Amino acid sequence: MIVTVTLNAALDVTYVVPELQPHASHRVTSVSQVGGGKGVNVASVLAQQGRPVMATGLLGGATGAVVRADLDARGLAHRFSPVAGETRRAVTVVSEAHGDATVFNEPGPSVTEQEWQGFLADLRALLGEVRPQVVVASGSLPPGTPTDAYAAVVRLAREAGALSVVDTSAGPLLAALPAAPDLVKPNRDELAEVTGEAGLLVGARRLLDLGAREVVVSAGPDGLLDVTAGGGVWRAHLDAPLTGNPTGAGDAAVAALAAGLAEGRTAREALADAVAWSAAAVLHPLAGHVRPDDVVGLRARVRVVPPGTTETATPHQEDRRAHPAP
Ligand SMILES: Nc1ncnc2c1ncn2[C@@H]1O[C@H](COP(=O)(O)OP(=O)(O)OP(=O)(O)O)[C@@H](O)[C@H]1O
Ligand SMILES: [Mg+2]
Repeated sequence: MIVTVTLNAALDVTYVVPELQPHASHRVTSVSQVGGGKGVNVASVLAQQGRPVMATGLLGGATGAVVRADLDARGLAHRFSPVAGETRRAVTVVSEAHGDATVFNEPGPSVTEQEWQGFLADLRALLGEVRPQVVVASGSLPPGTPTDAYAAVVRLAREAGALSVVDTSAGPLLAALPAAPDLVKPNRDELAEVTGEAGLLVGARRLLDLGAREVVVSAGPDGLLDVTAGGGVWRAHLDAPLTGNPTGAGDAAVAALAAGLAEGRTAREALADAVAWSAAAVLHPLAGHVRPDDVVGLRARVRVVPPGTTETATPHQEDRRAHPAP
């Protein structure tokens, strides 16, 4: 069992309009509403891949009720803790003429100290009850939660005998590291932002120094880089980049890594799966979705590059520019 934690869950609202124009009124062609937030996306991908999963976090107000109802309708197991504030909406406006999307992210509800403590108590009880192998904590924090919220989640996971995976950015990522999360998965920009380092390898090693036990960096079409203190640097990528919707691809990578850990493999051993699951997410138009057949087909196209191997192919050009010689 994998438990995913989404403290800043959202109702993902998508408007499709013929052509988005600032200062104008629009006729909306279609509206869709789905429960979202990064941990919910991870849970959704795990469920599609047949893995037992439970989503938790914070939900509040009428919007929180819509998210709950959507998770029920999708058959996704969940047990969120209540907050008085209103769960945020993330509104995406798709402009058919431009073929692109404009996103409005609300900040999320204000969480009181009492609600935060209530969540921690609920999480402790949930972990004691379902005994997960892995706890995944993903995404931004709503206002009012402490910056080291994920450190508290990592400690509760360890106390319950579970491994922890943290996928967040900026202050909340840095503040999680002293709790020694078993795995963190920054993307290239998030890593550069918290470490001030442009190079993936230098940045990943910085996160190890700060307490992470293992770092998997995602680099968009260039794939994944796995770094541990003693285990060298492993890379994995697809044979060729895909075009599609990369939003949520990182969540699918996290889902695959968590699935591997839950099955007793290391994150490094699950790296190729993570490339396949995340590539399948790029092929699916909706974030938090993969088609199992795509995962199987793409898995055969994954190239794994063990430590010390030099590649003649092009995928890691950008990183090599940052590190001309190892
Ligand atoms: N264009 C692409 N072609 C093939 N694979 C891709 C492509 N874009 C992303 N991926 C895969 O998805 C993984 C995660 O992508 P990325 O680094 O963009 O994550 P992210 O920024 O954390 O995404 P998000 O937070 O929206 O889920 C990559 O490491 C890679 O394996
Ligand atoms: Mg991400």
